[in-house]
Amino acid sequence: MRKFVAFSLCSVLIVGFILLAHAQMSDKAQLGRELFHDPTFKGTIKPGTKEGFSTGLSCANCHADFDDTANPDGLIRAGHSVIGVPHRGEAKGGMIKGADFARAAGGGGFCYEHFLQKVPGNKVNPKAIPAEHAEALMAYFEFISGDNKGPEFEIAMLDDTAKKAAGEKLAAMNGDSEKGWELFGRACVTCHPTPYKAGIGTRLIGTRAPRDMNKLMVRWATKIRGGGFLMPFYAPDILSDQDIADILAFLRQELENIKK
Ligand code: HEC
Ligand code: HEC
Repeated sequence: MRKFVAFSLCSVLIVGFILLAHAQMSDKAQLGRELFHDPTFKGTIKPGTKEGFSTGLSCANCHADFDDTANPDGLIRAGHSVIGVPHRGEAKGGMIKGADFARAAGGGGFCYEHFLQKVPGNKVNPKAIPAEHAEALMAYFEFISGDNKGPEFEIAMLDDTAKKAAGEKLAAMNGDSEKGWELFGRACVTCHPTPYKAGIGTRLIGTRAPRDMNKLMVRWATKIRGGGFLMPFYAPDILSDQDIADILAFLRQELENIKK
C-alpha cells in the first residue's frame, strides 16, 4: 500500500513537471507572441505612409493564434490560423522551403514586408525579416502548436483571367443582404471600419450612385476573391461563393440607397 502511495505521488509530481514545462513560454516565444500582435514590431517598423513603413496592420489582424476551426471566435480572418505552421515545412505553394522556411518565419516573412509595410508583392524578400524576429515567431508558433498540425488547406494562386472569371460568376449570383452585413462586420471592418468610412481600405459607399452597377459588382467580386494591392484575397474555405454573393448583395443595397 505504502509503495503504491509513493508511486502515485511520484507520478503526480512527474506529470506536474511535464505540464509546467509545457505551460512555460520561453523568452523567445514570448517575444514572438508580442511581435505577432504588434504592428510596429517592437518599434522596428517606422511610422509613415511610404513603402517600407507601417500600415498599422499586425499579424493578428489576419491570422488566429489559436485553432479557430475547432474554437471559432466569430471573426473571419483572411489568413489561416498559424497553428501548425512549423509542421508545414514549406510555404507559398513550395516557393519557400528547406532552410529558407524557418528563416522566412514559415512564410510569415512575406506578410511582414507586404502587409505590414506595403512592399509590393513582386519586390518582397520573405527573408528580409530580422533573423531574431523570424526565430521568435517560429518559437511562438511551435509553442502554441505542439502536435496540432492545424487546418488543412490548399491555396490556388489565381492568375488575372481566373480572378476575373471568378468575379463574373460571383457578381451574377443572388445573395442575402442581411447575412452580407453580418459577414462584412466579421471579416472586413479591420480595414473598412464601415462601408461608409475609409480606414486602411477605401471607403466603399460614397455619396454618388455608380454609373454601371453590374460592372462595379464584377470589379468588387474580383477584388474580394483575388485580392488587391494591400487588400488580402479570401480563399473559398474562408469565404464561400455564397458568402461573397451575400456581401455583394449588402453592398449593392447600400449603393442603391444613395440619394440621387
Ligand atoms: C492583411 C492580412 C495579413 C496580414 C497582416 C498577415 N498575413 Fe500572413 N497571410 C495572409 C494571407 C491572405 C495568406 C495566404 C493564406 C494562408 O496561407 O493562410 C497568408 C499567409 C501566411 C502564412 C502561410 C504562408 C503559406 O503560403 O503557407 C504564414 C506563416 C503567415 N501568413 C504568417 C504571418 C505573419 C507572421 C504575419 C505578421 C508578420 C502575417 N502573416 C501578417 C494575410 C495576412
Ligand atoms: C487588411 C485590410 C483589408 C481587409 C481586411 C479588407 N480590405 Fe478591402 N481593401 C483594402 C485596401 C487597402 C483597398 C484599396 C485597394 C487595394 O489595396 O487593392 C481595398 C479595396 C476594396 C474594394 C475595392 C474598392 C474599389 O472601389 O475599388 C472592395 C470592394 C473591398 N475592398 C471590399 C472588401 C471586403 C468585402 C472585405 C471583407 C470581406 C475587405 N475588403 C477586407 C484593405 C482591406
